[in-house]
Parts: sequence; structure tokens; C-alpha cells
Amino acid sequence: MSMLWLSFYCLVPTVIATMRDLGKSGRLEAEAGVLLNKTLVIRQLDVTSEHSVKKCLDSLPDQKVDILVNNAGMGQIGPLESISMEDMRKVFETNFFGVVHLVKEVLPGMKKRGSGHIVVISSVMGLQGVVFNDIYAASKFAIEGFCECLAVQLLKFNIFVSLIEPGPVNTEFEMKLMGEVSRSDFPGTDAETIRYFKEIYLPSAHEIFASLGQKPDAVAKATVNVIGMNQPVFRHQTNALYTPLTALKYADNTGNLSVRTFYNLLFNYGTLFHMSLGFLRCITCNCFRRRVMPV
Ligand SMILES: NC(=O)c1ccc[n+]([C@@H]2O[C@H](COP(=O)([O-])OP(=O)(O)OC[C@H]3O[C@@H](n4cnc5c(N)ncnc54)[C@H](OP(=O)(O)O)[C@@H]3O)[C@@H](O)[C@H]2O)c1
Ligand SMILES: *[C@@H]1O[C@H](CO)[C@@H](O)[C@H](O)[C@H]1NC(C)=O
Ligand SMILES: *[C@@H]1O[C@H](CO)[C@@H](O)[C@H](O)[C@H]1NC(C)=O
Repeated sequence: MSMLWLSFYCLVPTVIATMRDLGKSGRLEAEAGVLLNKTLVIRQLDVTSEHSVKKCLDSLPDQKVDILVNNAGMGQIGPLESISMEDMRKVFETNFFGVVHLVKEVLPGMKKRGSGHIVVISSVMGLQGVVFNDIYAASKFAIEGFCECLAVQLLKFNIFVSLIEPGPVNTEFEMKLMGEVSRSDFPGTDAETIRYFKEIYLPSAHEIFASLGQKPDAVAKATVNVIGMNQPVFRHQTNALYTPLTALKYADNTGNLSVRTFYNLLFNYGTLFHMSLGFLRCITCNCFRRRVMPV
């Protein structure tokens, strides 16, 4: 699902859940039950299409959006050399310009009413880059910078901005990425990089999802909590186990600590790394979590 809008008409909150392919609405319709078309309405929206954004907003009474939740996003992994410029731009069109466009459209109404809340599902990779996620991390950094600027400007209008920063979440996200890389032969990439990517990065990434991965419900609940706050926080990391990794850069502003730590985790302490993840998996009771992808 790409986005949710809540609009409060006559004190009955209306959620407008959007997706680019309405053919996928079956599960949400079933979950909604009797609320469908009453407090929950499903609309088509492709965040990368100007026409679709306009059509969707025009379909709302007075184009009124009180809370905008930007969730649509796509991942991308692999050696930089193997990814076409066109495919890199697609990530920015969705993860960055998609959000920018929606925010731009709902702002005039929020400013006029003197209230509103813009929520963006970012990522811990919007705070700390991770190898082979270059463009995805850059797109999330970009949206974090955009939101940092707006949060200050919009406070003047009583409009809040919040970034939700999940660590790994067990959704279709990882499967889609693994599916894509399994079909690629990484044109233009040297053999050593391909080896690091396949033999070191992919198994580690899989371990991280299996050990630290949250259920999507946990992220949804955290988002609802932030929406319910009287003075919504600007940033919220949903996965406490991941927080130390994002804190490194703040502990040493030369960046040496974070660069060296990530380097060592990946290239020098492979075994230690797997053992720590195994330990984390056990203390977080995830020992029996179903694997989300074939190894
Ligand atoms: N999963 C993770 O580990 C993780 C971690 C941190 C942050 N996040 C962020 O969480 C958000 C949700 O991701 P997810 O994990 O739920 O992944 P997902 O299962 O792949 O869901 C992403 C959703 O975005 C939709 N979408 C993609 N492009 C769109 C567009 N142009 N217009 C409208 N909708 C579009 C997809 O629609 P289709 O079904 O039509 O493709 C899909 O429903 C993303 O912003 C992601 O970056 C995910
Ligand atoms: C909800 O509204 C849609 C679009 O107007 C319609 O196609 C659908 O049949 C309605 N479903 C229910 C359960 O009212
Ligand atoms: C950065 O870290 C490396 C490895 O720990 C160390 O050798 C180097 O002296 C550090 N550089 C600075 C400027 O602290």
C-alpha cells in the first residue's frame, strides 16, 4: 500500500488508503469489513504520476487532508556499476519526489487550516548508509534532509513533520530485492565486487533480516503512536536493536568510527558478526521465525 490519508469529517475519521494497483486491494477490503467505504476508502494512486496525484486529491472533499502518511517506497541493492542511471532515477522518483509532490499538494490546505501532520516512512538507512544500498540510502537521506527543513518552517503553521525510521522489516521488500539480484549478472562490475556482494553482503543482509527484522504491524503501531501524540516527535526509530549502529556517526563526527566499524563488521569480523546476530535472534525470541526468503 502506498499511502494513508486521514481526514476528519464530522468527527468520524476517514482513512483513504491508496495503492497504484487496485487489483491488490482484496486483502485490505477483507480486513476493513463493514468499515469499507465508510471510514476506510480505497483509491488509486501512483506517487510518480502527476496525473494520478491530481486525480486522487481532486476526488477528496475540498481536497482536505489532515494527516498525510507517505509509505510508498522501493529498495535497490547491488554494485553501483551494474545499475542503470534510469533505474537509479526510479528510486528517487518514488522515495523522494513522490513524497515531495504529495507534500507540496497538501501544504496549502494545511497552512490555511493552521493544522496538519506529515508522516514519512523513512528508514535507518536515511541516517546511516549501508554497503550496496547506495542509491536507496541516498534517497532516504534526501527525504530526511527535506523533512528537516520543512519541520522548522511548518511549526510556524502548527503543522508537524515526523520521520518513522524502521530497521529491517519482514515485508515483500526483501523478497523483491533478492528476486531482482538473482536475475542480474551485474554487467560492468569487476569479479571481486560481485564476489563480495554475493558471498559476503547477501548472506549478512539475510541474517540481519532474520535476526533483527520486525513485523510490519510493529511499524504500523509505532506510526499510529506518533500520529496520536499531542506534539508529534520529529524522528522515531522503531527498532531499538538497530539504534547503536545509527549512533556511531554522532559519537565521532570525523566519521572514522562509523566507516571503520561497518568495514570491520563486513570484512574482518564475519564470524563474530554472525554469532552476535545469532545471539540477538535468541534474546529477541526470534529463534523460530520463519525465513522470509530461500537462502
Ligand atoms: N522492509 C524494510 O526492511 C524497510 C525498512 C525500512 C524502511 N522501509 C520503508 O517502508 C516503506 C514500505 O515498504 P515495505 O517494506 O512495506 O515494502 P513493500 O512490501 O515493497 O511495499 C512498498 C509499497 O509501495 C508501493 N509503491 C511502490 N511504488 C509506488 C508508486 N510509485 N506509487 C504508489 N505506490 C507505490 C508498492 O506497491 P506495489 O505493490 O504496486 O509494488 C508497495 O505496496 C518504504 O518506504 C520502505 O522504504 C522498509
Ligand atoms: C465501495 O466503493 C467502491 C467504489 O465506489 C465500489 O466499487 C464497491 O463495490 C464498494 N464496496 C462496498 C462493500 O460498499
Ligand atoms: C581511524 O581509524 C583507524 C582504525 O581504527 C585508525 O588507524 C586511524 O588512526 C583513525 N584515524 C583518525 C583520524 O582517528
